[in-house]
Amino acid sequence: MRSRAKACSNIAIIKYWGCADPEMNIPLNSSISITLEKLYTVTEVEFSSRFYRDEIRIDGERICGDDRRRIVDFLNFIRNMKGRNIKARVNSTNNFPRGAGLASSASGFAALAAAACDAIGLHVNGRELSKIARVGSGSAARSIYGGFVELVAGKDHDGCFAYQLAPPSMMKIRDLILIVSRDKKSVSSKEGHRIAVTSPLCECRIRIVRSLLPELRSAIMRRDFDKIGEIAERDAMMMHSVMMTSSPPLIYWSGETLEIMRKVVEMRDEGIKAYFTVDAGANVHVLTTPSYESEVAERLNKYEMIRSGIGRGVKIC
Ligand code: DP6
Repeated sequence: MRSRAKACSNIAIIKYWGCADPEMNIPLNSSISITLEKLYTVTEVEFSSRFYRDEIRIDGERICGDDRRRIVDFLNFIRNMKGRNIKARVNSTNNFPRGAGLASSASGFAALAAAACDAIGLHVNGRELSKIARVGSGSAARSIYGGFVELVAGKDHDGCFAYQLAPPSMMKIRDLILIVSRDKKSVSSKEGHRIAVTSPLCECRIRIVRSLLPELRSAIMRRDFDKIGEIAERDAMMMHSVMMTSSPPLIYWSGETLEIMRKVVEMRDEGIKAYFTVDAGANVHVLTTPSYESEVAERLNKYEMIRSGIGRGVKIC
C-alpha cells in the first residue's frame, strides 16, 4: 500500500485570506491561482499494519510537534473516509525552501492528498481530491489542477472545491520568484486566516473581491495579461492591508520586498509588462510575458530568482 505523487505549488492572483470555518479551511472568499511548474513537492506514502505510529519526513528531516500534528490530523481525515485505522510512513521532498511564503503547504498537501488516497485505496475524482487537499491547506485544493484554477468558497465541505478555469496552454505567463528570505515566517497563514476578521478592512476586501472574480475569469478567457497583472497587484495590496490592520498586525514584507515592488512599478512606467504579487511572506512574484522576461530578469538580477511557467496538476508518479 504505497504510492508517490508530484504536485506543483501555485500563486494566487485573487487570494484567500480569512476562514469561514478554520477547522475545514473553508475560505471567506473564492480565489484564483496559476499553478507553477518549477516549484514542486514529491511525496511518498506507505500504509502498513506493521507500523505502530505515523512517521513523517520532510526534506530529510523527521517532523515532530505542531507540524506533525497537522499532518497526522490530515491522515486521520483520509483514514476515516476509508474506514481504516492503519499507520503511515510519509516521505516528502520540496525543490524549494519550505515555509518561506512560497506555498509549500499548497504543493505539500496536494501531493500528500493524492499519494495517501491512492495508497489507502480511496479512488476519487479531481473535485473530491481538491476538497480533501483543502482540509490540509486551503491553497492545496488549487494545486490539484494545472493552469488557471479557482477555489470556490462554498458554504460547507461539499460546496468548497477547486476546478480548472483554463489549461496551462491557455496563455504563456512567466512568474519570476524573487527569494529575499528563506526563513520560516513568524506567523503562519493558519493563524493569519484566523485573525483576518479582526481587520476593519477585511469585509471591504471581500466585497471588492466578489466583483474582481468575474473580471479575472473573463481576463483569463480573453488572454488579457495586463488585466490579470493589474488584478494580481491590486488584491496583493488589499490582502496585505488586511494583514497589517489585523490584531495583532501582521507585517510580512521586508525592505527588499518594498524595493522590488517599487522597481516593478518603475519598469511598468517605462512600458515593460511586469506586475508583482506577494503571499504571506517577504518573497515577491513578478508576473511577466515571455517577450519581457529576460529584461525583467536582468533588472532584478541582484536577487535570488526562480523562473517558472505554468504547471500541470497533481500526478501519481
Ligand atoms: C496568502 O491555505 O496556504 O497564500 O496552509 O496555513 O499555509 P496554510 O494556508 P494556505 O493560505 C494561503 C494564503 C495565501 C493566499 C492564497 O494562496 O490564496
